[in-house]
Amino acid sequence: MTESRVVPAEVVASSGEPSIRVLFTNEQIFARVREMGLEVARDLGTYTRKPLFVGVLKGACMFQCDLARATPLDVELDFISVSSYGAGTTSSGKVQLLTDVRNDVAGRHVVVCEGVVDSGTTLSAILGLLKSRGPASLRVATLLDKVPCRRVQVPVDYAGWRIGSEFVIGYGMDVAERYRNLPFVGVLEEEAGS
Ligand code: PRP
Repeated sequence: MTESRVVPAEVVASSGEPSIRVLFTNEQIFARVREMGLEVARDLGTYTRKPLFVGVLKGACMFQCDLARATPLDVELDFISVSSYGAGTTSSGKVQLLTDVRNDVAGRHVVVCEGVVDSGTTLSAILGLLKSRGPASLRVATLLDKVPCRRVQVPVDYAGWRIGSEFVIGYGMDVAERYRNLPFVGVLEEEAGS
């Protein structure tokens, strides 16, 4: 991830399409995630058992992989899939477990990786589930923390940035499955060309 892959908003948007305001560039994300990886390594590096990074699919996919690459420890990856938003841009408040982790988390040092914590509904459900299985420790790392949107209090141990209530896309995050592969985090704005 050393090469620059910033895609300007004007390249992404065409006539009639929403334009995208870049919130965090690929370079900013790379630098911040690197810091977070070192912080995780400082906290978990003394344990003999490998940490287990559990990514919350799909939004955390980019962040989880980049955080793992930025963490100079032998880590294992696992994934959990829940659904709460559907195709809309506001939380339904309901969480359905779609795919469970494959690992037995009992006795493991677990780091739940999220792209964005919004109302806290998703994370609260995931933490409740994992906690009931007896991990040695349970931490949360999220690229973005939408603090003003919180409806359920959840612990966040590592946050890339605290932001407001804007609906973010890119770097794993979507609107109706679009924009996940943008290398930056952005916000949709008014339609281009209108
Ligand atoms: C998004 C995001 C978080 C969750 C945060 O996932 O990736 O997992 O919402 O919202 P909350 O704090 O209000 O629960 P989404 O349900 O949209 O699924 P996705 O990750 O597959 O896009």
